[in-house]
Amino acid sequence: MTPVPHRIVGRRDETSDITTLSLAPVSGRPLGFRPGQFNMLTAYGVGEAAISVSSSPREVGPLQHTVRDVGPVTRALCQAGTDEIIGVRGPFGTPWGVDTVPPTTGDVVVVAGGIGLAPLRGAIDELVHRPDADGGRVFIVAGARQPEQIIFARDLEAWERGGAVVTVTVDLGSPGWLGPVGLVTSVFDEIAFEPATSSALLCGPEIMMRITARALVGRGVDPERIRVSIERNMQCGLGWCGHCQLGPFLLCRDGPVLPYAGAVSHLLGERER
Ligand SMILES: Cc1cc2nc3c(=O)[nH]c(=O)nc-3n(C[C@H](O)[C@H](O)[C@H](O)COP(=O)(O)OP(=O)(O)OC[C@H]3O[C@@H](n4cnc5c(N)ncnc54)[C@H](O)[C@@H]3O)c2cc1C
Ligand code: FES
Repeated sequence: MTPVPHRIVGRRDETSDITTLSLAPVSGRPLGFRPGQFNMLTAYGVGEAAISVSSSPREVGPLQHTVRDVGPVTRALCQAGTDEIIGVRGPFGTPWGVDTVPPTTGDVVVVAGGIGLAPLRGAIDELVHRPDADGGRVFIVAGARQPEQIIFARDLEAWERGGAVVTVTVDLGSPGWLGPVGLVTSVFDEIAFEPATSSALLCGPEIMMRITARALVGRGVDPERIRVSIERNMQCGLGWCGHCQLGPFLLCRDGPVLPYAGAVSHLLGERER
């Protein structure tokens, strides 16, 4: 439960309200993680918030978290300067599991909305470098409200160079934007994945995940092979307090990454009480 002090050793503004923080443990002992897991970050004197790890396990160096300024804690984190100390508790929750069956082989469709690309960044990096993909391809569909809100543009280019099929779509174009305009599902028909052997990883607004998951199931993808990341208010992160309950799940322990099958397909989109 005790936050481990970490120093901010780098910060990069991704958009006007999204910042990536690079964190190094003051003790020198790095925390492990799997892509999809989250940490509770403490802005001392303000509070704690659940933030996904956005680095890739393949990268050596500081732990990265990408934070959108939506309230007091995230604002304090986004405004924290280099050399400031923040607390890190974790890692918590379930990973995407790209190193386990099924995404080790076959096509993988990754769909991200907005800052939803952050929890997926490490998983995509691992997928693009899968050693035994057995011909399986990686399709990335990233959506943003406007071109200025696209995060990780350099990573998207690098993943494309690494063989991934990358489509970036925006809800609202702006002068100079030559890519598609429309929701992530509007570009689905042009994506030639093999449904019978495909897996999918979805992260973003719940309505987007629900519509996308339904579209994937409609194309013939097995719901057990579709994984979604569901966010709820996290407090303890350890399955003790019940704040993150969704139906039979405690999302800090059983999630945030869950298969879109059974109860999850009914619960996705149910509003937090
Ligand atoms: C597993 C998990 C992983 C997460 N990963 C990230 C991450 O990588 N990066 C990140 O920036 N956030 C992430 N979040 C969301 C983050 O924990 C919340 O936004 C957090 O509540 C912000 O705390 P706050 O004190 O700044 O704002 P709060 O006071 O909690 O919220 C301020 C206002 O913003 C609204 N709000 C809260 N969260 C969101 C949201 N996600 N989107 C839109 N409005 C919201 C609230 O309803 C409230 O009106 C994650 C959450 C979970 C559960
Ligand atoms: S955050 Fe306390 S039980 Fe999940």
